[in-house]
Amino acid sequence: MLLHFPGGIAIAISGLVGGTTIVNAFKVPQTPPATSAPINKAQLSVSLEFFTFPDYTNIPSTTNCLANIQTLRGAPPAVRIGGTTQDRATYDPNLTSAVQYTVPDPTVAPSSLTYGPTYFTLAAGMKGDVTIGFNRQLNNLSNVRAAAIQAKSVMKNLLSVELGNEPDLYSGSSPIVPAGQPWNPTTDGSVEKQWFTDLAPDVGNIFQGGVYLQFPSWSTQGLIPRLGSAINTTVSFSGHSYPQSACGGASTNLPSLMNHTGIKLYTNRYASEAAAAHAAGKQYFLGETNSATCGGGGISPTFGAALWIVDYVIQGALSGVDRMYFHQGTIGNCQYCFWGRFIVGAPYYGVAFVSEFFGTDGVHVAEIDDASDALGVYVVYNAKNYPVRALVYNSAYFDGTGTRSNSTVTLTGIPQSQKKKSSISTETKTTTARAKRLTAQSAISRVDQGGVVTIGGGGTFDNTCKNAGTQSFESVVVDKGTTNVTVRASEALIVYF
Ligand SMILES: *[C@@H]1O[C@H](CO)[C@@H](O)[C@H](O)[C@H]1NC(C)=O
Ligand SMILES: *[C@@H]1O[C@H](CO)[C@@H](O)[C@H](O)[C@H]1NC(C)=O
Ligand SMILES: *[C@@H]1O[C@H](CO)[C@@H](O)[C@H](O)[C@H]1NC(C)=O
Ligand SMILES: *[C@@H]1O[C@H](CO)[C@@H](O)[C@H](O)[C@H]1NC(C)=O
Ligand SMILES: *[C@@H]1O[C@H](CO)[C@@H](O)[C@H](O)[C@H]1NC(C)=O
Ligand SMILES: *[C@@H]1O[C@H](CO)[C@@H](O)[C@H](O)[C@H]1NC(C)=O
Repeated sequence: MLLHFPGGIAIAISGLVGGTTIVNAFKVPQTPPATSAPINKAQLSVSLEFFTFPDYTNIPSTTNCLANIQTLRGAPPAVRIGGTTQDRATYDPNLTSAVQYTVPDPTVAPSSLTYGPTYFTLAAGMKGDVTIGFNRQLNNLSNVRAAAIQAKSVMKNLLSVELGNEPDLYSGSSPIVPAGQPWNPTTDGSVEKQWFTDLAPDVGNIFQGGVYLQFPSWSTQGLIPRLGSAINTTVSFSGHSYPQSACGGASTNLPSLMNHTGIKLYTNRYASEAAAAHAAGKQYFLGETNSATCGGGGISPTFGAALWIVDYVIQGALSGVDRMYFHQGTIGNCQYCFWGRFIVGAPYYGVAFVSEFFGTDGVHVAEIDDASDALGVYVVYNAKNYPVRALVYNSAYFDGTGTRSNSTVTLTGIPQSQKKKSSISTETKTTTARAKRLTAQSAISRVDQGGVVTIGGGGTFDNTCKNAGTQSFESVVVDKGTTNVTVRASEALIVYF
């Protein structure tokens, strides 16, 4: 097999595996190729379920997990507060607590709730941009107006406001559905337009439109023309994305979740949505996402899901998605959550790893593999358009049984260290570069079941999401700008140039 690089160079370097010649050689483009994409400072962000947002602010891991991302990226992740329970919430300006509801058991989401002004005081304390989702389903515009005015008045970090969560799932008998009309994208578009236009004079042009789950039947592309001139009241559009479903006990599939080719195909579906928003001068976010719907399934807390996050976030950026907000649901009943009250799960290690790959200096990311096999190979560029790091993801599935396969990847065109040279050129002699590995016993390893996931040999997170253990770099030989790195099945590696 011969790999063709963008730019037409074909390089064959062979090794014999099982009698088949495998070529895994990738040339690092010296400047961001045309296929590269910008990296948003908050590319990987989080979504917190509406009713339980105040509880999240009381968990040390919330602060620490978000702070780690901020340290790695040089900017705080954005926070979206919303979800199913935003459409069950009513604002009570007299409520002294942030939220009030009763549930039969703490792992169950409430069927209705009220929230008060201190809810926004808590939201104002979040470090990054905040988006808040209000209730549209109950059709109480005056109530939402009062809430949004309060939010706007206390939150300097308020980026945007959503009106309704996944309105595509509203029943035809919801209070918001106009009498005698079917509930479909056309009706929803006219109601969104009406609500945006009505509320904008009081809260500003700060709406996040869409918030749809069922793409492509409900889409940003379809919504934009329906908004007409009301487009100027929006800042962004949001789609919700879950590659798998775990609702009603549906079965999930880990090899499929972490399949590099599959991730690329899946994520590319959103490219047209991002393009539509960008053409209107707006940002496009996957405003709520995670591995599987309904809080996640058995695949969600695994190390394989961490690897999925690494590849999915990069592929999202490459598809034009400006930010991806990973949903954190009911505390204590959430398979895909990055953290809970008592533990930091395996997926968070993927969050930290891809954040480290993007770094504080990453401005563009490019894919240099052709997504034809299990290997994902990416390069990050800094503001001077220099390649600064590469990441290799070996998505071959290893479940802990049998022999763990590996792939040796040859990277060519590695630039001479920028510390040594003011302008870029390929290294002409033998030097070394540093590398850092994300690994675990297998793709099915779970921190909550005693699995050991590590970054840089010994780096972990303690139960409050503080860095624990010791991360260290591996050293790889770079000969005339070429290095060979070996990445085992279900593993990822960053090479620092
Ligand atoms: C809030 O309290 C004031 C003063 O007690 C009262 O007039 C008002 O009706 C209350 N508002 C709500 C929404 O309960
Ligand atoms: C709408 O909210 C207001 C308070 O903002 C409340 O007084 C009113 O009863 C609500 N209407 C409905 C139909 O629930
Ligand atoms: C939005 O655009 C419409 C039509 O161009 C214009 O009439 C309106 O004033 C604009 N609104 C704002 C808030 O800019
Ligand atoms: C990954 O997905 C691609 C595309 O759906 C498929 O052809 C391939 O067999 C999958 N690989 C594995 C290891 O499941
Ligand atoms: C890679 O696989 C080969 C062939 O099975 C094996 O000999 C070698 O030890 C493996 N290397 C690593 C780092 O796992
Ligand atoms: C990389 O592997 C190729 C093929 O085995 C070998 O020719 C080359 O010397 C290796 N380069 C380095 C820097 O180890």
